[in-house]
Amino acid sequence: MSDHALYAAHIRHKRDRLDHLLNETGFDVLFIHSGRVAYPRFDDRAMPFRAHGHFTAWLPLPYAPDCMLECHAGQQPLLWYLQPDDFWHSPPAPPEAWWADQFDVRIVKTADEWMGRLARVEATAAIGDEAHLAGLGEHMAINPPKLLQALDDDRTRKSDYECRQIFLANGQAARGHQAAREAFLAGHSELEIFQAYIRGLNADPATLPYDGIVALNAHAATLHYQHRQTERPQQARTFLLDAGADVAGYASDVTRTHVGPVASEAGGIFQGLVDAMDHLQRRLCVSAQVGHSFVDMHHQAHRGIAEILRQAGLASGSADALVESGITRTFFPHGLGHFLGTQVHDVAGLVSPEGQAAPPPATDPMLRLTRVLEAGHVVTIEPGLYFIPMLLSDLKAAPAGAQIDWALVEALTPFGGIRIEDNVHITPSGPVNLTREAFDALD
Ligand code: GLY
Ligand code: MN
Ligand code: MN
Repeated sequence: MSDHALYAAHIRHKRDRLDHLLNETGFDVLFIHSGRVAYPRFDDRAMPFRAHGHFTAWLPLPYAPDCMLECHAGQQPLLWYLQPDDFWHSPPAPPEAWWADQFDVRIVKTADEWMGRLARVEATAAIGDEAHLAGLGEHMAINPPKLLQALDDDRTRKSDYECRQIFLANGQAARGHQAAREAFLAGHSELEIFQAYIRGLNADPATLPYDGIVALNAHAATLHYQHRQTERPQQARTFLLDAGADVAGYASDVTRTHVGPVASEAGGIFQGLVDAMDHLQRRLCVSAQVGHSFVDMHHQAHRGIAEILRQAGLASGSADALVESGITRTFFPHGLGHFLGTQVHDVAGLVSPEGQAAPPPATDPMLRLTRVLEAGHVVTIEPGLYFIPMLLSDLKAAPAGAQIDWALVEALTPFGGIRIEDNVHITPSGPVNLTREAFDALD
C-alpha cells in the first residue's frame, strides 16, 4: 500500500473510532487544538513549538500552531488551518493533497476565526490546554476524562501508517547514529559528535523529538546528560548516544553505546559488558510478544543484569538475591521502556485499557509502562547498566555492599555506563524491531 493510502486508512479508522467514542461518551462534537506558541515570562523569545500529540495523531503538522480540528460524528472533519499574514515568520506550508483530501480544510488568518465555533449549545468536548480553551464555550467540556482516556488508549495501538512513520524516523536516526559513531572514533568532542549526528540526519535540530543525549566517558552515567562539551576528550573511552528523529510528528528513540580503542584491561572488561548487554537487549526484544506483561519483562531485565554483574565479577551471590536485595537497581535505576508515538514517552503507559490507574511496582517507580502488550503497541526496550557515583556510594554504605567488587567498580566508573535502546512493534506474529531493521538497511 502506498504511504498515502496508508494515511487514508489511518484516518478512516480514527474517524470510525471517534464516532463510536463520541456516541459512548455523549458528545456530538470534538475539537482538538494543535496548541499555541508559548513565551517565557519576561521574554519575547518564543519557546520551541510542537503540536499536542492528539493533534499530530490526526495530522502530519507538528509545527502548525493554533490550528483546530473539528470532528462531528459521521462527517468529514473540518480543519481550521492557521496561515497568518506575518512578515516576521513564515506561515505553515499550504495544505498538501495527500493529507488535506481527508479533511474539509478552511484557511484562517487568525485563531479568532475558529474560536466562535466552540460556543455551541450541543454537547461539545475539546482537547487542548485549558488556558487556551477556557471561556470559549459555555457548555464545553475541556479534556473530559472518560473520552480522553479512551482516545489515549486508542493511541497505544498504532496503525500501519503510524508504524511506517516510526520506522522512517528510525531510518533517519540510524543514519545520524552512524555519522556520530564515526565522529566519536575520530576523537571528536560531544558538540562535534552532535553536529555529526545532525548532518547524518539531515534535519533541523529543532525538529528532534527530544534533546539528544551525547555522553562521553563518565558522562554516560548521567541518564539524561544534557550538556555537550566543546573540548575533545583526552581519551575517548565510551560513547553513549540517545538520540532520535521525527517524521510527520512521530518519534524514534534510539540509544547505542560504543567503546573506543582503549588498550586497557578495564576497557576490555567494559567492552564485555557492552556485548553482554547487547545480547540481553536482543533477548528482551524477542520476548516482547502479545500477552506479555511489561512489568514481567522489566523484572526479566533485572535478572539479566544480575547475571551480567555476576559473570563480570562485579557482584557475588545468586541472580535472584542480587535483584531482591536491590543491587541491580543501583546499576539499572530506570524503567525497561515506554510507549512511543507522537510523543517520545507516549500516553497511557500507566493506565489499564479500562482506564484504571496502573502504577509501577513500589520497587520500580521509574517504570513508565505497566501494561500487557497488545498487537499494535510500539514500545522502547532500553536496558542499561551504569556506574553512578551517587547510587554506588549508597550501596557501599549498605550491608549489600559487601557483595560488590569495589576495586572493579572503581576501574569501570570512568567508562560511565551502557544503554541500548530499540523501538519494537508488537504484532500477532511476533515483535518487529524497527530500529535494528533500520540499521540493517543502511548502505
Ligand atoms: N530518550 C529518552 C528515553 O529514552 O526515554
Ligand atoms: Mn526511551
Ligand atoms: Mn532514549
